Amino acid sequence: MKPTVYITRKIPDEIVNKIAEECTVRMWGEQDIAVPKSVLEQEIEEADGLFCLLTETIDKTMIEKAKKLKIISNMAVGYNNIDVNAAKAKNILVTNTPDVLTETTADLTFSLLMATARRVVEASAYLRKGKWKTWSPMQLTGQDIYGATIGIIGMGRIGEALARRAKGFNMNIIYFNRNRKQKLEEEIEMQYQDLNSLLRNSDFICIMTPYSSETRGLISEKELSLMKKSAILINTARGGIVDEDALYYALRKGELWAAGLDVFMNEPISVDHPLLTLPNVVATPHIGSASIQTRLKMADLAAENLLLALKGRIPKYVI
Ligand code: GLV
Ligand code: GLV
Repeated sequence: MKPTVYITRKIPDEIVNKIAEECTVRMWGEQDIAVPKSVLEQEIEEADGLFCLLTETIDKTMIEKAKKLKIISNMAVGYNNIDVNAAKAKNILVTNTPDVLTETTADLTFSLLMATARRVVEASAYLRKGKWKTWSPMQLTGQDIYGATIGIIGMGRIGEALARRAKGFNMNIIYFNRNRKQKLEEEIEMQYQDLNSLLRNSDFICIMTPYSSETRGLISEKELSLMKKSAILINTARGGIVDEDALYYALRKGELWAAGLDVFMNEPISVDHPLLTLPNVVATPHIGSASIQTRLKMADLAAENLLLALKGRIPKYVI
């Protein structure tokens, strides 16, 4: 008998078809909203494989409902939405989709850096509101990128891809990571610093670390107070790494120059979120990996991970 797979959202047909060649597919496909918890609790009971997104919380209680589940395939590089230990205790594999999204996510991170530094979104709104009366020496002036110091927190795959972009822009690069990457330091000409030094010395601070109990609230009031008044904070990792209240007050009081944010503590945020009231915040709705090519690759890789595991093989990207 074919294994049963539950897919938690409508994904591209070609990927569904690929899975359907080997499995009985069930899918939450009615609307483009997250599957209700109660539906997922029912579906997971009989599923052999689960294809899910970062919008699904697969906690211990959810995992305990599963009677024959072998694989949880997350279509994301981050997997903080899954209780990996609870899965492991039941011999359920958990997989993610790194590598294929590295360059795309670094691109978005650099886009936010540039948009924030040069006030692109604010300037566009200014023009559209009819405020553009003349060219003026200090009108809508921002911060230079060329020659500035970028501090990268987390030197994994995406951090490295960001560093390569920064090098192309002739930035000084410093980084903080759990372990030093000496070979890469030499190759890219970047410098390792402890977190506090990085925060003090950087013009741009980019968060490129996974979300875990170690990084929750990593950037809070104290860390923000160490940053230069002219500094710009970019977060394309996970919202919970930054204390949003502390960030809001730092930006409002002018203790920090601007922030570019693709991720938030509770997603989706509503239009009346305090951070959205600030002109010096550039915000995007968690689109780090959202290029057509990369999202297709992620879906395909998640399908491949799932199918391999269902055949009793070990996929490349097991957590
Ligand atoms: C997106 O945030 C991902 O983790 O892939
Ligand atoms: C600006 O457009 C300039 O020519 O300096």
